[in-house]
Amino acid sequence: MVQATLFLPMLFLALGAHSLHAKKCSLTGTWVNDLGSNMTIESVDAEGVFAGSYHTAVSASPNEIKKSPLQGSQQKGRNQKSQPTFGFTVNWSFSDSITVFTGQCFVDDDGKEVLKTMWLLRSHVDERGDDWKATRVGTNVFTRL
Ligand code: BTN
Repeated sequence: MVQATLFLPMLFLALGAHSLHAKKCSLTGTWVNDLGSNMTIESVDAEGVFAGSYHTAVSASPNEIKKSPLQGSQQKGRNQKSQPTFGFTVNWSFSDSITVFTGQCFVDDDGKEVLKTMWLLRSHVDERGDDWKATRVGTNVFTRL
């Protein structure tokens, strides 16, 4: 009984100290992914809504690549997390395609922030019969530039 009354407060103190020191992962800033694409996320508002721009290093379109706008949302529940989930859409300004990304912002063991994402790239096709080949899927990992 004595052991439990000592152990429990110490456990709570240790957990509290850990969460005080846990670095929060923030989406705001400029990022580069494993393909060499860059994106900038402007400030995230109180509702978790954000906007920014995306400069892709690669494209499925023959058109000249141009910087494109993105709009997204970060999860900001009552129980706000230090490693939040998020999603954003890139509306490509130089093609008829749209990409949606979903992911989570992590802090690694060295305190470095990393965005682990999955994406769906929807290309435009001229007819319904081509719908089957219109969506690509993949992953991207972003680190701060
Ligand atoms: C297009 O091909 O029509 C627009 C460019 C798509 C670029 C894709 S989106 C997913 C992947 N991650 C990137 O950084 N670029 C490619």
